[in-house]
Amino acid sequence: MPDSSQPTPWTVQGEDKRVAVRSMFAEIAGTYDRVNGLMSFNQHNAWRAAAIKRLDLKPGESVLDVCCGTGDFLIPAQKAVGESGRVTGIDFCEPMLRQAGPKLNGAARLSVADACALPFASAQFDAVTIGWGLRNVPDMPLALKEMARVLKPGGRIAILDMARPRGPLGPIIEKVTQSGLPMLGKLIGKSSAYTYLPKSILTFASREEIAKRMEEAGFTNVRMKDFCFGNICLHWAERQ
Ligand SMILES: C[S@@+](CC[C@H](N)C(=O)[O-])C[C@H]1O[C@@H](n2cnc3c(N)ncnc32)[C@H](O)[C@@H]1O
Repeated sequence: MPDSSQPTPWTVQGEDKRVAVRSMFAEIAGTYDRVNGLMSFNQHNAWRAAAIKRLDLKPGESVLDVCCGTGDFLIPAQKAVGESGRVTGIDFCEPMLRQAGPKLNGAARLSVADACALPFASAQFDAVTIGWGLRNVPDMPLALKEMARVLKPGGRIAILDMARPRGPLGPIIEKVTQSGLPMLGKLIGKSSAYTYLPKSILTFASREEIAKRMEEAGFTNVRMKDFCFGNICLHWAERQ
């Protein structure tokens, strides 16, 4: 049972959110991949593959994965840019990063860093990805600006995250998602983290707001595509 007197990632903002989110991911790092598979009916890698396809990566290009967690976005990125390419992942939660290393054959550069203060010079990367990370950062406009800053002009971005299902069946699908996730959390004994997930979906920016924020941060030609009955949305665009 979560202690209601403790700050939780869904009751705090700013620096407090950063601390609460990091400790929540540290707690679930060991089971994260397994639960991702269960929650997505093993579709999560297909969604990442669809995002990588939209980036149209070429051999030799450089990719940064922000909020890379256990590294599952870096795997298809690495494949797409080949041995002559460069893939880099950052995450502020060391236990999550520790899970990523062994999957990437030592070929990716991984570092502990914050999405709102990327430790890279400007115009370094051909493409940036962020999967299920934007919802968690304490300052989304700043994180988007940082991703635009480190991209070369014309560089591409792909953002995957949870979304609120739309259309006539939207409310029913949302109800199933909202009640199913905490139940799964209870089953695996990580109640707090899987209470946060549905709550964070309800308070996260809409697809349109994300697109607007992307444009304000310096991206152009923003497009979007839904997956999983609208529970997941991919945004992709180019840096001006
Ligand atoms: C839901 S996981 C997603 C991991 C991975 N991108 C994937 O596709 O499975 C979110 C990750 O974002 C990281 N994260 C959240 N806020 C962050 C921030 N401000 N800076 C860096 N990493 C952050 C967390 O530590 C966690 O590993």
